[in-house]
Amino acid sequence: MTGSLPDTTSAIHAAYLERSRSSAAHYALASKFMPGGTSRQASFWEPYPLTIAKGEGAYFWDVDGHSYLDLINNYTAMIHGHAYPPIVEASHKQIAKGTAWAAANEAQSSLAALIVDRVSSIEQVRFTNSGSEAGALAFTIARIITGRTKLLMARYGYHGSLLEFEIGSFGNEGPLTYLAAYNDLADFEAVLSAHGDDIAAVFLEPVMGASGIIQGEADFLHGVRAAAHKAGALFVLDEVLTLRFGTGGCQSDLDIEPDLTMLGKIIGGGFPVGAVGGSADVLGIFDPADMKVFHTGTFNANPVTMVAGEVSLRELTADRIERMDSLCEMLQSGLMDVANKHGLPFSTNRYGSCLNIYFNESVPESSVVRDDEQVMNDFHLACINHGLFIAHRGLIALSTVIMEKDISEALTRASAAMQDVASEIA
Ligand SMILES: Cc1ncc(COP(=O)(O)O)c(C=O)c1O
Repeated sequence: MTGSLPDTTSAIHAAYLERSRSSAAHYALASKFMPGGTSRQASFWEPYPLTIAKGEGAYFWDVDGHSYLDLINNYTAMIHGHAYPPIVEASHKQIAKGTAWAAANEAQSSLAALIVDRVSSIEQVRFTNSGSEAGALAFTIARIITGRTKLLMARYGYHGSLLEFEIGSFGNEGPLTYLAAYNDLADFEAVLSAHGDDIAAVFLEPVMGASGIIQGEADFLHGVRAAAHKAGALFVLDEVLTLRFGTGGCQSDLDIEPDLTMLGKIIGGGFPVGAVGGSADVLGIFDPADMKVFHTGTFNANPVTMVAGEVSLRELTADRIERMDSLCEMLQSGLMDVANKHGLPFSTNRYGSCLNIYFNESVPESSVVRDDEQVMNDFHLACINHGLFIAHRGLIALSTVIMEKDISEALTRASAAMQDVASEIA
């Protein structure tokens, strides 16, 4: 969601151009056949993104042959890093047996059962191919059940690429989208009491991810759930990103029971995935025996995603989550020390294994409204120049294969990148 143009006169920019010639050539080719050379805004940055040739463990390699310590892990999805051997083995075995057919497979029930076992509010699951589709499906379910047409979400919240959610992530209301301020229960209650009759569902992330790792207060989340129910709307918890924070997602820690839960990312083991979970009663609207809504998809619950997702979830143990969290805390304080050393204003939001950084004395309301874009863009490119990969909006998400030595390596590389940024500013 950053948009300012790069400073083409900077040494950081020049070094990036110099070391990424094969990526530049690939970008020129890609731009002939795809608008702006990409199908994914979140993996585009100016002047052009790197083209990656392969990944293994905590690292990946670009087409120019440089290696990178990956601290974003495909925006939190690659919870076990790249080419994680148990996932490679399970998915290879499945690929050799076929990848999709228009009938059932056994792997879908294993993954669904595992999700039901881990996530307290979920009795049944409906699979999709992305978190965005899960959001669209949750909205459809709520509309069918309530007979209403609109949604309420947090301003700057993120629930995927459906237009009705996307405008909200940029802070705008729309014909079907009401907004209220995150962590402001009174604001949500006010919208629900003014427009409750139109609102089919309230969508919330327990921790706002794209907005900059902003933790929802327990009283706020419970209060919004109660207010939604009072207005006759469904309460949807978006755990697409936050399932990584606990074996049962955030809802177990918060002891909150949403009507529907959106899932994605880590439940696919690195393959495209999404899901909506809820009570058997609510999900019963899809039951072919008494169908209220038609929902299908050529690759829904395909066996490759299902076997990979099962390994991914099983191997995400409470111990590993705790270890990632403490390494992330170490990274957070190390980055602060490094920024201080280079005289750069710096602040962070962290929850568990995710961190968002800002070159401001204090964190802004959201990553969407920030005034450090130029410095952030420079730091992002400088990190790449030093073999460190973070999201260009400053998001960092660890994986289970990152070790303490990798955190030290990350701090050394980040320090070199901050040195470059400080020289640029001076
Ligand atoms: C909270 C949240 N919801 C939904 C989505 C959309 O998921 P996908 O990118 O798989 O469509 C994301 C993706 O980043 C997310 O973080």
